[in-house]
Amino acid sequence: MANTIIVGAQWGDEGKGKVVDFLTEQADVIVRAQGGNNAGHTVISDGRKFVLHLIPSGILWPGKSCVIGNGVVLDPVSLVEEIRGLADQGIAVSPDQLRISERAHLTLPWHRGLDRLRETGLGSRRIGTTGRGIGPTYADKAQRTGLRTSALRQPVRLAALLNERLQENNRLLEAAGEPTIDIDTTCRAVLAAAAFLEPFLTDTTVYIHRQIEQGRRLLFEGAQGTYLDIDHGTYPFVTSSNTTAGGACTGSGVSPRRIDRVIGVCKAYTTRVGEGPFVTEDDSLSDRLHHMGREFGATTGRARRCGWLDLVLLRYAHMVNGFDALAVTNLDGLDELDRIQVCTAYDLDGVRLETPPSEVEDWERCTPCYEELPGWRTSLSDLTDIKQLPPRARAYLDFIASDLGTTISHVGIGPSREQTLVC
Ligand code: GDP
Ligand code: IMO
Ligand code: MG
Repeated sequence: MANTIIVGAQWGDEGKGKVVDFLTEQADVIVRAQGGNNAGHTVISDGRKFVLHLIPSGILWPGKSCVIGNGVVLDPVSLVEEIRGLADQGIAVSPDQLRISERAHLTLPWHRGLDRLRETGLGSRRIGTTGRGIGPTYADKAQRTGLRTSALRQPVRLAALLNERLQENNRLLEAAGEPTIDIDTTCRAVLAAAAFLEPFLTDTTVYIHRQIEQGRRLLFEGAQGTYLDIDHGTYPFVTSSNTTAGGACTGSGVSPRRIDRVIGVCKAYTTRVGEGPFVTEDDSLSDRLHHMGREFGATTGRARRCGWLDLVLLRYAHMVNGFDALAVTNLDGLDELDRIQVCTAYDLDGVRLETPPSEVEDWERCTPCYEELPGWRTSLSDLTDIKQLPPRARAYLDFIASDLGTTISHVGIGPSREQTLVC
């Protein structure tokens, strides 16, 4: 397999974890390049469920090398919990299997406090963040006041900085009537995590380049999705990193010239968790999927908002990411429907839009223009070959591929690794 970027084409939770897990067999090095533990990637392997937040999903395969790149924001305490949780599930994570960039940025307890504070301050215009401190960590990085993972190697300096910043932030939290952070307990927890993680730190850029020189194949695991991208998404209802294909390069130190393939992952419908515009949102589809026990967030457990497939979104996502192919997941979620709506354009004050507007206020006023396709009304979950797809399910996929001018490489018909059809 060529060096491949896996990227979410919608608002996250498209099933990237499952697709990465499926493709890991053909890869050697699996890299996370942006985001933090706001991500929740579900993989079901041999009937066991794993939810990964910071560690690439490739860790579930023996003999693979995983990397957390410089573009990631890393909460050290939460990462240690994730490593221990995997050990409890029988997956040992050693510095031979996981390498962490010494240039990644640290998410520390006050970042979570500030995240909460900003959300409260925004009132009805809140973003609906995951509360993991992601925005404040990237804000520190951008304003050049952040702490990088290399600080985990310097416990004395780290302890002094933690003390200073915690006092400063406690004053802010106190003034806002928010609970303050216990300084001693927090310092102890962060320093213990630092000692644990130190052996995992390295210059991952150099490591990845050595791997490329040896002909090893890279697989980049995108977090979040195109419309949560800080530049291309529904700003300000976005996350704080570049979630699109370019983010894989800046967040890992790998040149775009070393990338061979970009695979976009999209659901056969659309979901979003958190606030912000969602033109094809449909309460009856939400109810139907939630009653099936589906579409609850892997990180926060929140019910995801659901709606019809939106080709306006996918068209623009294709421009920004340059999909060589699309993996369409959760096709089985539409199994029982008589009629399926697909949004082919937006109407904004009588003007037909084929691509989304840039201003969120315009986005919120758009209404969907739908085409209706017939449902296949049969369960797809037990199919084993793409040729077994019912003609109407095939026609649904062809409709998407021909609109976008791209091919579909994989189709998901259930949450397990083996419920993936290769086209
Ligand atoms: P990610 O963040 O993009 O990795 O996606 P999540 O894991 O947060 O959410 C995707 C959800 O859909 C998870 O519960 C997966 O187990 C599930 N899933 C992925 N692909 C399929 C599929 O083809 N069919 C079904 N039924 N579930 C799927
Ligand atoms: P994966 O990798 C879905 C959303 C939050 C909120 C916005 C900003 O599992 O696809 P943040 O905490 O990042 O400041 O929140 O982004 N969000 C996600 N939604 N999947 C994710 O990750 C998300 N990560 C962040 O709900 O709307
Ligand atoms: Mg997710």
